[in-house]
Amino acid sequence: MKEFYSLEEIDRVAAVIRSHFTINPQVAIILGSGLGEMADSVRDAQVIPYPEIPGWPISTVPGHQGRIVTGKLEGRNVMVLQGRVHYYEGYTMAEVTLPVRVMQRLNIPSLIVTNAAGAINPAFSPGDLMLITDQLNLATMAGVHPLRGPNLDDLGPRFPDMSQAYDRPYSQIARDAAVENQILLHEGVYAGLAGPSFETPADLRFLRIAGADAVGMSTVPEVIVARHGGTRVLGISGISNKANLDGNTVTSHEEVLAAGRVLVPKLTSLIRGVLRRM
Ligand code: HPA
Repeated sequence: MKEFYSLEEIDRVAAVIRSHFTINPQVAIILGSGLGEMADSVRDAQVIPYPEIPGWPISTVPGHQGRIVTGKLEGRNVMVLQGRVHYYEGYTMAEVTLPVRVMQRLNIPSLIVTNAAGAINPAFSPGDLMLITDQLNLATMAGVHPLRGPNLDDLGPRFPDMSQAYDRPYSQIARDAAVENQILLHEGVYAGLAGPSFETPADLRFLRIAGADAVGMSTVPEVIVARHGGTRVLGISGISNKANLDGNTVTSHEEVLAAGRVLVPKLTSLIRGVLRRM
């Protein structure tokens, strides 16, 4: 368990990954639960399984393959993370966000984060995509913050601004790509909780009043660390289920993974459209 990483420790992990690369990735893409197959679209793929990277956190969750795929997508050099780790698995916030720190040390300026999320907004249905316009950092707001500990001054300030956590020009690119590819793209606020239990109906009504449109158990710490280090972020949620505001339906991880099969083709064409324009 690592509470904090020094720059030297991050650089050691980055050096291992760099030694596997033959390209300089310009965009990193983190694929959420059930969305990993998007990496199959990468051309000239080179694969690094997470266990071959000393110190890299390894997911214990079904639906997260656990490897880095580098190569070309729409002519852009990309680094795709097939699977992430979550706070609920027992990892510290520093471990959850280590991949983002490593990207920063690899000089990758742009990050596309994806996740599977429950719809709180009643207009959203399973299989829809949502552009994340802002986030509610519920898991981290009250204490377990990914930037707690010694500040890495070389990467960013002690008190980083979060007024535009999700990059506005990138969001516009995603809207344009959605229109061009005739993909329905909702927009909204993603609420990040610690998990692993799904929400009670009362939790969900609370989140709705607080302004959340979708809810999940990831992404928020990664985006905070990304912004701290100056990485530009585009966020896309794949809606996997309707959040159960009335208490009459049951939410399961199987449902989340099943929605991924519908979401992957849409997400892939949206991200391809984004990369063409980025
Ligand atoms: N709640 C929390 N996390 C989730 C959900 C949900 O309904 N669906 C996918 N991830």
